[in-house]
Amino acid sequence: MSRPRGGGGSIGRVSFEPSKEPGEVGAMFDRVARRYDLTNSLLSLGQDRGWRRATVEALGIVPGDRVLDVAAGTGAVSVALANLGAQVTAVDLSPEMLAQARRRGLVGDVIVGDAADLKFADAAFDAVTMSFGLRNVADVPAVLRELRRVTRPGGRLVVCEFSQPVGAVWAAAYRAYLAGVLPVAARLVSSDPAAYTYLRRTIKAWPDQRNLSSTMAHAGWRNVRWRNLTGGIVALHQATNPA
Ligand SMILES: C[S@@+](CC[C@H](N)C(=O)[O-])C[C@H]1O[C@@H](n2cnc3c(N)ncnc32)[C@H](O)[C@@H]1O
Repeated sequence: MSRPRGGGGSIGRVSFEPSKEPGEVGAMFDRVARRYDLTNSLLSLGQDRGWRRATVEALGIVPGDRVLDVAAGTGAVSVALANLGAQVTAVDLSPEMLAQARRRGLVGDVIVGDAADLKFADAAFDAVTMSFGLRNVADVPAVLRELRRVTRPGGRLVVCEFSQPVGAVWAAAYRAYLAGVLPVAARLVSSDPAAYTYLRRTIKAWPDQRNLSSTMAHAGWRNVRWRNLTGGIVALHQATNPA
């Protein structure tokens, strides 16, 4: 597995952008895996189910579709796709997250691997998806190109990720939540509260809907569009691999 360097680090005691070095990211998710689903539901106030449901619907699955779920984590999206008749391949850096996915009932191809270096042939999939994974990679344009390489011409991409809330009220409420509620709640329920400092920092540094669309288009995806969920706290980006 390749190990591209992340941009994060620290000088003395002043830390800047969080590290996205795959070894460190995978180890962090290994630590939170056992309580990930519960923590997620609590911290998102139950919104996470709707976000993943929207992701699955946007993929427009036809039984037999070959679908790659990258950064599949504990497999919530993968299992829903398999239940619709898709042939799902789940890839994630963290063996412990994937162990939870197997416990959830995910069978078939469950592979430890890096989004930046997928071990699949060109055009191997009808659709690819990443939910809450793209924000964690060190080189977003390179991963978007790698996703396109493994998607057949005419195939689809769906990315579900935190984004920028629209409107002053949503934005203010979200800022207060990230600064005040999230750290306290994470201390109470997570097995690794530091992981939720990472979450907050990566959300803050993440591009808005329009900028992510433009990065996707630069990576060669076409017909890029997005839909806001929960007032833009999350956005669903969709695109097509040109034929
Ligand atoms: C926030 S979790 C999301 C999991 C799942 N997709 C979901 O919606 O719940 C992020 C996942 O991305 C994985 N991940 C982070 N960087 C990755 C990379 N470069 N390649 C593959 N997986 C990665 C982590 O191990 C973790 O399981």
